[in-house]
Parts: sequence; structure tokens; C-alpha cells
Amino acid sequence: MGAEIADLAQVEAAAGAAVAAARTVEELRAAETTILGKHSELAALNQQLGALPPDRRRGAGQEIQGARSRVRQAVEGRRAELEASERQARLDAERLDLTEVVPGPGRGHVHLGRGHVHLGRGHVHLVTRTRWQLEDTFVGMGFEVAEGPEVETDWYNFEALNMPPAHPARTGQDSFYVRLGAPESTLLRTQTSPVQVRLMESRQLPIYAVVPGRCYRRETPDARHIPTFHQIEGLVVDHGITFGDLAGTIEAFTAAYFGPAVHSRLRPGSFPFTEPSAEFDITCTICGGIGCRTCSSSGWVELGGCGMVDPNVLANVGIDAEEWTGFAFGFGIDRCAQMRHGLADMRALLDNDIRLLSQV
Ligand code: DAH
Repeated sequence: MGAEIADLAQVEAAAGAAVAAARTVEELRAAETTILGKHSELAALNQQLGALPPDRRRGAGQEIQGARSRVRQAVEGRRAELEASERQARLDAERLDLTEVVPGPGRGHVHLGRGHVHLGRGHVHLVTRTRWQLEDTFVGMGFEVAEGPEVETDWYNFEALNMPPAHPARTGQDSFYVRLGAPESTLLRTQTSPVQVRLMESRQLPIYAVVPGRCYRRETPDARHIPTFHQIEGLVVDHGITFGDLAGTIEAFTAAYFGPAVHSRLRPGSFPFTEPSAEFDITCTICGGIGCRTCSSSGWVELGGCGMVDPNVLANVGIDAEEWTGFAFGFGIDRCAQMRHGLADMRALLDNDIRLLSQV
């Protein structure tokens, strides 16, 4: 046995060890170049064949080829192994099990009026929860829940509600207009009241409905105002509806929603779409009615407005005001959340401070 053959056994053993030592497909690729490539020891042995006597050349050549193909096989075997385990690792890492239950910090479950929401893993925002609770309160009083568009036309948001273009009430509802159609013809609704008009147009009478939703006004945020806010509108149209029905409904709602410590009061007010109109206040829950910064020392916080649906509005949707009468109200959902949870500053609802969000 010549020296070349002894080298060959050693070279093959070293190659096998290098293959086994590769721990990734990448490492194996590098090892493959080293042990089978042009500058490998196997290639060097091949080049030495020419120096052998002719009668040995053929046998030695076959031995080198044999070693080379065994090494190549070892490489392929190892590659298959490594690829399979890398694939498995990737699948494990990318696994997304939407049904998996990750135990939360254990805040338990809170009843929110619509099923149970787990607080440990995040939960609906306070405003959404307040909206659901308000809806539930009104459904319990016999109202249905309806919705309307957030992008409104000037007609529904203002004109059909008895607020023609020069009406002074419009200046109190500084609007975000949308570039659509004629200038200032389309806007982000400033109130949920336009849905009153949509309901009266599309429904059979009588109507007993509440309409919660988002509204927008160009306002500088302060302790009681935010530019994107939520209102809930109420509308009743039936035979023989009186102001007494309106006052009784507001009273019943306040007691049901805020509890016996909170009272409501109606003050004379003025809205273009109701006649007579009233402002609707509740006891300030921040100070219990004593007076504080949030209620500007009055002990009362304005929740919204209400009144008897103006005959002009009924006429705009073709309802005979001799036959039907109705009342409407509209108030702030954010304000309700603020009052029910004693938030001194409404801007807290926008901050998304986790210390607040996880408490309420
Ligand atoms: N839309 C009024 C506002 O945003 C609130 C309002 C007042 C709604 C009186 C009504 C109502 O339905 O009758 O200021």
C-alpha cells in the first residue's frame, strides 16, 4: 500500500469529521467547499496521481473516487438532517395559535353588559364600554339602537335640523369639512342629531330609538371638551308625546345609569331643532355637587340638550305635526364616562395611559 492510500484514509476520516461537526446548513456548505472543492486535500491527492507508476494509477484513482463519493454521500445525508431540523425550528418559531390561552395577570372577568371581557389581556376602551352600558340602559327602557354615517351632508347635519347656513348655532359647531362635492357641502358630523332626520325619513312611525356615535368639532381640548367625541341621540315620535314624557325619560335614565346619588335638572335652552328646548345637567360626580374645577364651581355638569321636535323638522321629513309629536335629546358619551368614573379631565380619555386604561 503506497503513501497516497494512507493519506487517503486520513483525508476521508477528517472529511467525515468535518461533515459531522457542521451544525447548520450554512456551516455544512463551507465544510463542503473545504473537503470536496478545487483546493481540497482530495483534489490535491488526485493531482498526485500523475506521479504514480502507470500500473498503480488506475487503482489509486478508483480509491480516491470511492472516498470522494462516500464523503459526498455523507455531506448529502447531513444536509438533509440539518435542513429538516432548521425547517422544524422555523415552524416552531413562526407558529401562531389563535386559540392558545396565555394566562393573563389574573384580573378576572368583568361583566360589561355584553358578555364577559377579560381584563388581563386588554379590554374594550372605557368609552366603548360606556356606550354599551348606555345602549343597554335605553334598551331596558324600550328604545331600539340605530346608527348613521359619520361623514354627513350639510343638509342632514344642519339644514334639515332647522339650521340654515347663516344660523348662529352653526358657529358653536365649528366643523371639519370634507373635500367632496360643492365647497362646505360635506362634513364630519358635528352631532348625532342628523340621524334623527334619517330615522324619520326611513322608518315607520312610531319611533323610539337611540343613536350612539362619534362626532367631530374643531375645538381645543380642555377638561370638558375633546375634538373627537361621542354622543348618544334619542328620538321618540308617537301620538300624544309631551314634554312630561321627555322629562320623565331623562329622569328615569339618570337614575338607572348614574344611580340614586346623581340628580338631573332641565334648564331652559335653545336648539334650532327643538321647541321648547332644555339643557340637561347632572350632579357633578367629581365633587358630589359642592363645586370644583371640573364643574366650574357650579356643582352641575351639562350632559346635553333636549326638547320637543320642532314642527319645521317634522315638516322637512313630511311628518304631519298635527298628528304626531316627539321629543329628542342628545348628550355626550365621553362626559358620561368621565362622570361615572370621576375623571377630572376628559383629555385622559385620549391619552391612552396604561395606568388609567388598566384600571377602568
Ligand atoms: N345636537 C346637540 C348638540 O350637539 C344636542 C342636542 C340638543 C340633541 C337637543 C338633541 C336635542 O336631540 O333635542 O349640541
